[in-house]
Amino acid sequence: MCGIVAYVGSKTVAPLLLEGLKRLEYRGYDSAGMAVKGSDGKLHVQRSVGRVANLQKLVEEHEGQLDGSIGIAHTRWATHGEPSVENAHPHVGTTKDGHTVAVVHNGIIENYVSVRKYLEGKGHVFYSETDTEVISKLVAELYDGDLESAVQRALQEISGAYAIAVMVDAWPHTLVCARKGSPLIVGIADNAYVVASDASAIVSHTTQVFALEDYQVVKLCAGAEDKLTEKGGPWSTELRTTTIDNVPVDHEVTELEMNLDQIELGGYPHYMLKEIMEQPTSIRNCLRGRIDKRENRIVLGGIDEFKRELVRAKRYILTGQGTAYHAGLIGEYLFEDLARVPARCEYASEFRYRNPIIEDGTIICAVSQSGETADTLAALGEARERGAMALGVVNAVGSTISRETDAGVYLHVGPEIGVASTKAFVGQVTVLAMLALYIGRRKHLSNESVAHYLDQLDLIPGHIEKVLEQSEFIRKSVEQVVDRDNWLFLGRGYNYPVAIEGALKLKEISYIHAEGMPAAEMKHGPIALIEEGMPVVFVATKGTQYEKVISNIEEVRARGGKILAVATEGDTDITQYASPDCVFYVPDVPEALQPLVTSVPLQLLAYHAAVLRGHDVDKPRNLAKSVTVE
Ligand code: G6P
Repeated sequence: MCGIVAYVGSKTVAPLLLEGLKRLEYRGYDSAGMAVKGSDGKLHVQRSVGRVANLQKLVEEHEGQLDGSIGIAHTRWATHGEPSVENAHPHVGTTKDGHTVAVVHNGIIENYVSVRKYLEGKGHVFYSETDTEVISKLVAELYDGDLESAVQRALQEISGAYAIAVMVDAWPHTLVCARKGSPLIVGIADNAYVVASDASAIVSHTTQVFALEDYQVVKLCAGAEDKLTEKGGPWSTELRTTTIDNVPVDHEVTELEMNLDQIELGGYPHYMLKEIMEQPTSIRNCLRGRIDKRENRIVLGGIDEFKRELVRAKRYILTGQGTAYHAGLIGEYLFEDLARVPARCEYASEFRYRNPIIEDGTIICAVSQSGETADTLAALGEARERGAMALGVVNAVGSTISRETDAGVYLHVGPEIGVASTKAFVGQVTVLAMLALYIGRRKHLSNESVAHYLDQLDLIPGHIEKVLEQSEFIRKSVEQVVDRDNWLFLGRGYNYPVAIEGALKLKEISYIHAEGMPAAEMKHGPIALIEEGMPVVFVATKGTQYEKVISNIEEVRARGGKILAVATEGDTDITQYASPDCVFYVPDVPEALQPLVTSVPLQLLAYHAAVLRGHDVDKPRNLAKSVTVE
């Protein structure tokens, strides 16, 4: 949700900022902009509505001005004010001595109305409807020759969430950045610093990084000592981290676990398709080293220290948003079924505000791809405050949730760029299954049962490979119904969350209205929607509730609905209810692991529907990959 990137160093900055923005574009893409200090000593700002490609044209036209080596840039997902040039970042302010301050921001400033009034009283003229503009004006108002101090003092007056990068034309080699609530990573490169909302915009420069913590400010200087550089003299860099109250703090530099190949399209037309197709590999990576067949156990290094607490826990609360919430719902089934411990999954946005009761022995488990979702973080904070131990199931290594939990398990599925989550979902469910087995193994699960699950988990990547081979078949099935605007997705038990995730996938990228629900719930209202030819997708794999699902299929068929089904290989009976060209077969796996395979055809279904409808699959309208505001 909004991406920021900033650079100070020895290279011409504009192309680097554009490259960074393209990497971050999945975070928001309704407008983009950059500010660069030119060799003429002035700060030049370019902003445009729409994609980064539009900004690129502007930047190319003004290449002569944007020739400096320090700059900040932003790609926006609008919160305050419509997508327009005026509302695009960077925003600027003018200091008392006539210098220009520029700011890019990810987050929401909550007290911006009162701060704006105060600044208007001081004579500052506002040009946008954004909350961000108050930061640029406030820093300018407080600036007395020291940018770091002005930023620190400005942030003491501001409430809300922010990741910001700030520069002033008076300081040719200095960037000041800060965070509270929204993520910000600092990369340390040769003779340069690069700062960004996430590591994808940093990895081409360096793998040496640290994450800024809440209420921290970093001052980054890179430039010539006494102008000697022009003659080949020494280059100096300086980095200082403080709190917003100017107390110096340490930062721990770590090696980034990411490489460029992981964030390139690699010949695929879309990141979403690439990420769907790489699931056999990503799930192998997720399982690697974690299945110990010799000892018949799951090995999860990140939680071992808390083994006793995890096994003795009286209750698990799983929480997340969007797709991660759906994974958490499957976790609820897994924990109760395999670990025999009470579990419930809650939307983080609801949990955090409803005065939750946290009994002794409660563990909160935050599920998140990015590890930065604002509501999930807040729910985690709320539960911890009330005494719960915190567990993270996160993909982004070093992200805020991973730092703010007592223990955790990384997904290790690699960076996910497509806005519609796919491989992270299957990774989350894989980790939750491993966690349930880890606990269950130490409680009631028999050795035979554990051994069976370990074998079956091991086979999942190969099973996914087989499902993926049906991509073209699924595309052809979808073609028959892609013009229909209302769909239902139904499943029972473990496959109920798969159904609602399938509906979400279709909605978010194809803009088709789809509802997912427990199959039995259909009779309590939604059945009224069914009319001739309406697509109804059943997750109808073999299991304890198979016959019941078949009855639901009959009910839909009797009313003219068009049945599409995910079924177990070898189930030929299903073709009595759904035409064979609309049945997507998955290998037979134990019920508890079925979501790992049944979700895959539904990902492909949504992908093909969106492509057939001509939509930009990786950048669906109004959505952002990482929702860092409430
Ligand atoms: C957004 C994304 C979803 C994601 C959700 C939670 O809505 O578009 O794909 O599932 O946020 O994100 P998280 O990073 O916490 O998993």
